[in-house]
Amino acid sequence: MKPVIQDPIKSSTEYRLPRHVAIIMDGNGRWAQRRHLPRFAGHRAGVAKVRELVETCAESGIEVLTLFAFSSENWRRPVQEVSLLMDLLWTSLKKEIRKLHKNNIRVRFIGDRHAFASRITDHIDAAEALTAENTGLTLVVAVNYGGRWDILQSVRSLACAVSTGELDPEQVDVAEIESRLSLHDLPDPDLFIRTGGERRISNFLLWQLAYSELYFTDTLWPDFDQKAFRTALDDFAGRQRRFGMTGDQVETLRNA
Ligand code: FPP
Repeated sequence: MKPVIQDPIKSSTEYRLPRHVAIIMDGNGRWAQRRHLPRFAGHRAGVAKVRELVETCAESGIEVLTLFAFSSENWRRPVQEVSLLMDLLWTSLKKEIRKLHKNNIRVRFIGDRHAFASRITDHIDAAEALTAENTGLTLVVAVNYGGRWDILQSVRSLACAVSTGELDPEQVDVAEIESRLSLHDLPDPDLFIRTGGERRISNFLLWQLAYSELYFTDTLWPDFDQKAFRTALDDFAGRQRRFGMTGDQVETLRNA
């Protein structure tokens, strides 16, 4: 089972950097519309920001960056936008994978892969295999992902284990559910960021965000530059994470 406190409560003088940052990159469409450009131009500008952010995270020592690139609900968008988004995603992956590998970045994908053609899943598998042994930043790309889907597939796998007698119903606990979730081997996100002004989680990592610090900004994703990211990190560093304890208990732990 994952420890409840993934981020050890460090001394109050230390700058607290999140180990894992999870981001909903919202606002590409509005960014484009404000410039009288097609929505797709916003997504393209969004990819440039992804590149910039990956570099910043890798340099600053953040361990995991999870990006919500395409939700299981995004299929409801106009067919042409879905198709352009998918193209952009896979073309960017193909274009960037060597560079990511050279920079010691480990790439992982989460989400339901059944919706993708085999040429796409082949790309995904190849990218994961190529970078599997890298020891720098882990970049997790969520595609056709939904938090409810994630919990459902874990519960389904548990139900199978119970039905075959491999697991007793009494043994079903938090750790068993967690061990079957997409990010089971990574720390839970310490910091969740959503750009673009909406204040909701939109079926992202529902289970894993239980104790994350939530940060919402009106900045549209293509404008979310290094300075904006630093502001989010500073905000996180100033927060007191209590994990159900009292503020006094946390202070005592910090000073121990
Ligand atoms: C939300 O903006 C954005 C998306 C649904 C797509 C985000 C995807 C990328 C930036 C590409 C990611 C690429 C890689 C390589 C990880 P929106 O269209 O909902 O904007 P709006 O709310 O202003 O309409």
